[in-house]
Amino acid sequence: MNDMTARFEPNVARYETMMDVVRNRLTTRQFRPDIAVPREHVEMVLEAARHGPSGANAQPWHYIVVTDPAVKKQIADYFVDEQRKRAKMKMKFPTPNYRGLETAPGFIVVAADFRFVRAFPVLLDGSELDKQYQANAERILLQSVAASTMSAHLAAAALGYQVWWVTAIGQDDAQTALRPLLGVPDELSIIDIMLFGVPAKAPYKRWKKTLPQIMNWDRFDMKNFMTLEEIDEWVREHRHKVMYRDEAKID
Ligand SMILES: Cc1cc2nc3c(=O)[nH]c(=O)nc-3n(C[C@H](O)[C@H](O)[C@H](O)COP(=O)(O)O)c2cc1C
Repeated sequence: MNDMTARFEPNVARYETMMDVVRNRLTTRQFRPDIAVPREHVEMVLEAARHGPSGANAQPWHYIVVTDPAVKKQIADYFVDEQRKRAKMKMKFPTPNYRGLETAPGFIVVAADFRFVRAFPVLLDGSELDKQYQANAERILLQSVAASTMSAHLAAAALGYQVWWVTAIGQDDAQTALRPLLGVPDELSIIDIMLFGVPAKAPYKRWKKTLPQIMNWDRFDMKNFMTLEEIDEWVREHRHKVMYRDEAKID
């Protein structure tokens, strides 16, 4: 039982330890294949995922650890092909080299069980109103899986690995191509891949917004509001830099 009269002592030292992990989790897109991730570390990482919060405590997540290099390669092939298709459609997105996927010693596919939307406030009567509740329920579900996955990423970073969060596989084609490789039933959706290991090149810190740019007190500060034109300009002029450059080297 908590002693409700005890003084509260904030644990700043523990916060700093956590922030060291948070600040130094840096996306890495190529790994040293010569340094393996032992099974014990994979379990430690997923132990963190297990404790994630979720809407209705539904825990609608599944993690599939891929160890077979041939399967890793097949998944990387899928991404490389997909990237070619996007380039043909002239979909402008600065894509990384997805061959890096197969270099990851830690390789975990994240699947979500969207049937759990029914655990959230929904009407299930097919009405227009139900569609709105269903859309919100999907957001609740996605955020839940992301919260669990983020814990796993931080746990990997805490162990000293670097991480790569790969999404962009929501389309039906991707599901059809990847599910059979991993024995994932049709009812589940593959939504992410989490890669981790020792980086092949020195990782770097990417641009982050400042605290005043994200923090608003009591009312939304319109200084932080961007018009659609400003967002389009950001996408045109800045996106590629913030994705692939060291923050210190952005002019
Ligand atoms: C939801 C989500 C999806 C992402 N999807 C991809 C992806 O498909 N491919 C990729 O190379 N990086 C992906 N990333 C990594 C981001 O590009 C990266 O987090 C961002 O550039 C910031 O860099 P940092 O992680 O080093 O802070 C994703 C990250 C998140 C959180």
